[in-house]
Amino acid sequence: MIHFNPETRTFNLLLKTSFYAFKVDSENRLVHLGWGPRPASADSEAALISGWTVYGPDKGESSFEQQSRPDELVTFGEVSYHEVSLKVNFPSLPPKLQAEEAPHLPIRDVRLRYVDHEIVTDAQPGLSPTHGQPTRNSTRRETLRVQLNDPVQPFQVTLCYRLTPEHDIIERWCELNNLGDKAIEVEVCGFATLNLPHGTNELTAVTGTWAREFTTQRQQLPHNLYILESRTIETSHITNPFFLLNRPGQAWEESGTVYFGQLAYSGNWRLTFEQLPSSAIKIHVGYNPFDFNLTLAPGDRHVTPAIVCGVSANGWGGGSRRMHAFARERVLPRPDRQLSDRPVLYNSWEATYFDLSYDGQLELIRKAAAMGVELFCVDDGWFGGRRHDRAGLGDWVVSSDIFPEGLNPLIEEVHKLGMQFGLWVEPEMINTDSDLYRQHPDWVLHFPGRPRSEARNQLVLDFGRTEVVETIFQALDNLVNEYPIAFFKWDMNRYTSEPGSVAGKALWRKHVEGVYSIMDRLRRNHPNLDIQSCSGGGGRIDLGILGRTDQVWTSDNTDAFDRIRIQEGFSLAYPARAMEAWVTHALNHQTGRISPLSLRFDVAMRGALGIGSSLNELDEAELAEYASYIAFYKRIRHIIQNGDLYRLQRLEEFGASIIQYVLPGGHETVYSVTVHDHQLGWLRPTPPLQGLNPSATYRAVDRHDREVYRASGYELMTLGIPGEAGQLVGYSRTLYLRQI
Ligand code: GLA
Repeated sequence: MIHFNPETRTFNLLLKTSFYAFKVDSENRLVHLGWGPRPASADSEAALISGWTVYGPDKGESSFEQQSRPDELVTFGEVSYHEVSLKVNFPSLPPKLQAEEAPHLPIRDVRLRYVDHEIVTDAQPGLSPTHGQPTRNSTRRETLRVQLNDPVQPFQVTLCYRLTPEHDIIERWCELNNLGDKAIEVEVCGFATLNLPHGTNELTAVTGTWAREFTTQRQQLPHNLYILESRTIETSHITNPFFLLNRPGQAWEESGTVYFGQLAYSGNWRLTFEQLPSSAIKIHVGYNPFDFNLTLAPGDRHVTPAIVCGVSANGWGGGSRRMHAFARERVLPRPDRQLSDRPVLYNSWEATYFDLSYDGQLELIRKAAAMGVELFCVDDGWFGGRRHDRAGLGDWVVSSDIFPEGLNPLIEEVHKLGMQFGLWVEPEMINTDSDLYRQHPDWVLHFPGRPRSEARNQLVLDFGRTEVVETIFQALDNLVNEYPIAFFKWDMNRYTSEPGSVAGKALWRKHVEGVYSIMDRLRRNHPNLDIQSCSGGGGRIDLGILGRTDQVWTSDNTDAFDRIRIQEGFSLAYPARAMEAWVTHALNHQTGRISPLSLRFDVAMRGALGIGSSLNELDEAELAEYASYIAFYKRIRHIIQNGDLYRLQRLEEFGASIIQYVLPGGHETVYSVTVHDHQLGWLRPTPPLQGLNPSATYRAVDRHDREVYRASGYELMTLGIPGEAGQLVGYSRTLYLRQI
């Protein structure tokens, strides 16, 4: 609910268990009042609505510390020596100002003053999906739009707040309007400034690199600035655009107040955490200002993407569950599929690499179907001259060397065996050894006269050119028109270099717009097409891409041990249903480590299960084991893919990860234990379960449907499930618990 008190000019945004408040001050500036859990009693809630009398402990009284007002959007203007979320250059003076003032141009000072506000439904942030496929929950939501104008320059900024009360989530973005007749250059373009209570400076975020994505980091923010960002043109493996913040020592996995946020944007982004001398905490959220350009022509309007943020009174776990539920219900597309479950996928990459053949794929198809796979995806190497990674990217036509009769005979076999068919593509990329490059060598990012730096032997197409975006869309659209393709694994295997484009510095944004527009058009034209976002593993995972894809490839690292850590970091922000996880060979190709099949399955079953093993290397007994695990997964996946996730024990506690998924109502739950590390003498405690019905009795079974434990919900939620003896490195088990 959005409440405005005209006397105090106070806005109170009330969500299920939290509130957010700001006011218009005596000089018409928009200043933050508070954000946090809602008070328990109705009386104090009435006090909240009736208005706040003071804002923030900072009064800005010290002569050296005047920029402490908690503005709802901090701009470069008046007193400016801290970080800002918006910086603009005005090239001309309004006529009423003296002509002799011209040498001081451009004016680089923005002051935003309240003009008006409105409450609307169905407002959309920038770069929202346009494919038209609804989300699981498409009920209308209220958005508060607060219009602020510069008092002198013809410039207007509308701050937008869209509420999803059931998940305590506010989406914030802004709209910039050039109301004048001269272009305006935006140097720093934030989506929002977030003001957090003083001392909320313990940050949980992730860092990483290729094959080591989502490594959890918990640290205290330094004074001044701490930056998480991407300059790679995509979301990046190096970090991911989300955060959790709390007062040090005052939040834990299931307790304490935790603030969280995540971006709905897949390009160059930046989260700047600022701790002022007073310990006030601000987060400046937006496009990365590095090599940035946004020019607003006269009359132009720019709507930024959104930051999705909220507050949890149930610790980090409560923050994660709110983000998961928001993604499942409000972000991931297509309700018909959302209500059913993600299919079990087979991917041929690690089985064949570039050594593709029709007969080889056919053999894999038959074995995959026999073990219960539902979606068969042919990975890299099926097109153009792509017999190795030095050629072919850009030529999205089926290779007649590999498939002389096209893909249809293969797809017919896939369908006959009751599976769906998918293909790997890497649409933004090109090899110089390709027909596309030979025809259009100027269609790649480059600076004239400079070398074109290749990575994995490939260059990046210039999506600043509309004809390039159109050509790639047509190529993919033709493929889906010609073949019954149910799934694209959309890859992106390098970052940028020499970002020269016909779009100039706007390229960084145009690239993302191009990718989104192709995905949106494909989904609109082919409502039954699923897309998986992949970028050398987990390089493009964020709420922007999840709005037009169904799942993401978490990491190229398929080692079960490494995956435990990667997946735990992923679970901080993203839901299990979107997390594709494969079982691969006993001897892992990336790390050379051998791990038991039970661990490989128990780890991969924590998300959307896939198989990437060389099935031809497995004997009959192993194939049967695979089939038994897949059958078990199908019995429990509705809980994993739709349930609430509890991290009962995190890796940092005793080297083991124990997680639980529970469906609303608490009738069914999945309990999953994996041991990453073990030291003699470690007797791990068994954590209590969550979300069950205390008086009900639960039966816990293993994958053979053998009952391994029976207890009341109360006992499970106080004592947990007794651990088996001998939980050494690599031990794992997955149990299915049902109320009886
Ligand atoms: C990337 C992907 C892999 C595979 C290869 C193919 O590395 O992440 O899964 O598809 O490309 O070249």
